[in-house]
Amino acid sequence: MRIRSHSCISLLLLFSLFSSLQSPTQAAKKSYVVYLGRNSHGSESSSALDISKKTESYHELLGSCMKSKEKAKEAIFYSYSSYINGFAATLEDEEVDEISKRPEVASIFPNEESELHTTRSWEFLGLERNGKIPPDSIWVKARFGEDVIIGNLDTGVWPESESFSDEGMGPIPSKWKGYCDTNDRVKCNRKLIGARYFNKGFQASIGQPLDPSYNTARDTDGHGTHTLATAGGRFVSGANFLGSANGTAKGGSPNARVASYKVCWRGCNDADVLAAFDAAIQDGVDILSVSLGSRPRHYFGHGISMGSFHAVKNGILVVCSAGNSGGQGGRVSNVAPWILTVAASTIDRNFASNVILGNNRLFKGLSFNTNTLPARKYYPLVYSVDAKAANVSALSAQSCSPESLDPEKVKGKIVYCLHASVEMSWVVAQAGGVGVILADQLPQATISPQAHFLPTAHVSAADGLSILAYIYSTRHPVAYISGATEVGAVAAPIMASFSSSGPNAINPEILKPDITAPGVDILAAYTEASGPTSQSFDKRHLPFNIISGTSMSCPHVSGIAGLLKSLHPEWSPAAIKSAIMTTATTTSNVRQPIATDFLQESNPFDYGSGHIRPSRAMDPGLVYDLTTKDYLNFLCSIGYNATEMSAFADKPYNCPSKNSSLLDLNYPSITVPNLSGKVTLTRTLKNVGTPGLYTAHINAPEGITVKVEPMRLKFNKTNEEKSFKVTLRAEENASDFYAFGGLVWSDGVHNVRSPIVVKKKDAGSA
Ligand SMILES: *[C@@H]1O[C@H](CO)[C@@H](O)[C@H](O)[C@H]1NC(C)=O
Ligand SMILES: *[C@@H]1O[C@H](CO)[C@@H](O)[C@H](O)[C@H]1NC(C)=O
Ligand SMILES: *[C@@H]1O[C@H](CO)[C@@H](O)[C@H](O)[C@H]1NC(C)=O
Ligand SMILES: *[C@@H]1O[C@H](CO)[C@@H](O)[C@H](O)[C@H]1NC(C)=O
Ligand SMILES: *[C@@H]1O[C@H](CO)[C@@H](O)[C@H](O)[C@H]1NC(C)=O
Ligand SMILES: *[C@@H]1O[C@H](CO)[C@@H](O)[C@H](O)[C@H]1NC(C)=O
Ligand SMILES: *[C@@H]1O[C@H](CO)[C@@H](O)[C@H](O)[C@H]1NC(C)=O
Repeated sequence: MRIRSHSCISLLLLFSLFSSLQSPTQAAKKSYVVYLGRNSHGSESSSALDISKKTESYHELLGSCMKSKEKAKEAIFYSYSSYINGFAATLEDEEVDEISKRPEVASIFPNEESELHTTRSWEFLGLERNGKIPPDSIWVKARFGEDVIIGNLDTGVWPESESFSDEGMGPIPSKWKGYCDTNDRVKCNRKLIGARYFNKGFQASIGQPLDPSYNTARDTDGHGTHTLATAGGRFVSGANFLGSANGTAKGGSPNARVASYKVCWRGCNDADVLAAFDAAIQDGVDILSVSLGSRPRHYFGHGISMGSFHAVKNGILVVCSAGNSGGQGGRVSNVAPWILTVAASTIDRNFASNVILGNNRLFKGLSFNTNTLPARKYYPLVYSVDAKAANVSALSAQSCSPESLDPEKVKGKIVYCLHASVEMSWVVAQAGGVGVILADQLPQATISPQAHFLPTAHVSAADGLSILAYIYSTRHPVAYISGATEVGAVAAPIMASFSSSGPNAINPEILKPDITAPGVDILAAYTEASGPTSQSFDKRHLPFNIISGTSMSCPHVSGIAGLLKSLHPEWSPAAIKSAIMTTATTTSNVRQPIATDFLQESNPFDYGSGHIRPSRAMDPGLVYDLTTKDYLNFLCSIGYNATEMSAFADKPYNCPSKNSSLLDLNYPSITVPNLSGKVTLTRTLKNVGTPGLYTAHINAPEGITVKVEPMRLKFNKTNEEKSFKVTLRAEENASDFYAFGGLVWSDGVHNVRSPIVVKKKDAGSA
């Protein structure tokens, strides 16, 4: 076979440096993923016999390096024998050197960590996905995702959640080969058809045996239950969170079968992520939802990139979160072109919680907890400083810190506190108060609703001062708190400030993220093993929680992809992805361009092709399709050598004698990061609708001339393919900042839209 040169060793040193930066205290023994070359069974799945033969051969291979097969058996903690050819093992530096010299070994890299994509987890920003969908919608047409199987790589599942009830569901599809790890009383059913855990990579990374309590597919964190229920949870009526967002909870594909792969413990290790991908492909999932990630990482050596490549190769669409490192461009993660990468934005809902004072003045606030006080009943209102306990300072009472209030002075009252945290409402609740007004301190702060322990109104700093003035203006200040979830009257989507944005730090020619979907204040099922705020004082056990993050937007897209898979089982992962991207919108419900949190206009680096429109995605007209070969040629073009290619291709891959331009990858968006003079790129459209004549409509980026040839494409039959060329030319006066435009192919019914993103090569880099 190939590769094996001394340069492998320097690669290893480089990788070790990375992993030691991540965990500086580790000893010489580290965990690695070892990739072998050729996979004899190609993309066919392995029989049990093959698998045991493979495992045996891994033992022998490593045994010969370690001079002991027994030692090797101990060192190997995963054999990826199903679809991915290799194993994960804990090795000393010398053993790494030794094994990397073996001809069978294509590559070896350390078992790094990814993290969950929830925004500042204790913070509860605020909105759920609105269930208003017209009767002719994709839900009905796709029979709610019936018989599609959605897998989720995350923190596990709370199997008892009503969102995973199998009431009224038919038998499990016969193609399913997965199973349920029943430790810790985890039970599957005809809805939750798989629940497995992968913790050996985690164990290897901490370098000591895990407590047996880790051997469970059960979710004690909440994240995995929430994401899985968002992708495929069933209809659960009367679902609410502390009275807020009362209604019917459901996932994108409510009738899909779901399978949980628990890979995240403290972090989510590459070795565990790869093992879960390998298992999920073998089990027979159709869609994989992966709400985790890291800094932007190259595809080679990155568990999510490599695992997802094998999944896509086997016809499984992989949907990943873009990350929660917004605020600075270039941080978007999971940027491989075979992944559908999802940003997060708001929906048209608000968790209003208003204060009405005795003088009838109303101040707008926000909270998830509002509805439990009788309507319009006034309560005495007291400033926390005037209700302080005898032995504490006014300063400590001002912000309602623990034990700072005198229960005698608080009982039956609404308490006004300065600052805002869930702990304050807990303190007031402990002291016997009935409600809380929290005044923000920072004049410009964006207020987010939180999971309070009492009816609470979180108001702005300015309104806080007015309320305080009222308290001192009258002898018997009174107030009530009145909350209602407001729907429809709110401009949306707005890009979430936490959502990671482009440009793509690995290959700027591929626009990332690809799409945006609801990820702010999403209500879904949760673990009942811990409280919704994850604070130590939070002893509540609630079946639902409202949380935010690209982790929450990702499973929305996974659920919708499940519907598309159910409607169009013959579509490739790239075709489903294209349908979702080319039908997205870049305007909000108030017909304005999608804005940022700061009410500036956002752009494709924030939202990719735009905001997802499920009902349109079911009939896109045309798609930009891609095959495994296209992705492999893409890897050739970015200069991947045989070592690196072996992690993706089943057998030694012969790169084309001439590199194809990255600009020509048949991606549903067009990005030219370095335009000097002019460039021509090619795209190919496939008709997945009725015959039709499509015309190109161009919205050229400022300073760029765009020419499309031909301007008309006639499709006579389904699956017919037609190519066209796009020539981009920088005008003399074009700026060297990124400029944004679009290309739409329209037959009058379908509008197949691609963003065009161009940066003229700056003089400095000419
Ligand atoms: C392949 O690329 C890696 C870097 O990812 C390098 O360390 C290795 O030496 C290369 N192999 C060959 C044969 O050039
Ligand atoms: C939720 O809505 C249902 C039906 O409209 C109602 O019966 C129930 O009381 C509501 N629950 C809360 C907490 O508002
Ligand atoms: C104040 O007194 C209460 C009860 O007497 C006690 O629980 C609390 O710890 C005291 N707080 C401080 C800051 O001393
Ligand atoms: C393709 O491009 C890569 C990266 O620029 C380069 O390393 C490689 O030699 C090229 N291959 C061919 C066949 O030109
Ligand atoms: C499609 O139909 C048009 C006329 O309707 C005809 O001119 C053209 O040759 C046909 N193209 C193909 C590929 O059949
Ligand atoms: C660049 O020049 C064109 C005319 O050649 C003009 O229409 C356009 O407004 C100019 N753009 C800028 C940014 O100055
Ligand atoms: C543009 O090209 C220059 C040099 O040719 C290079 O230094 C720079 O990194 C490139 N920028 C991008 C975004 O590709």
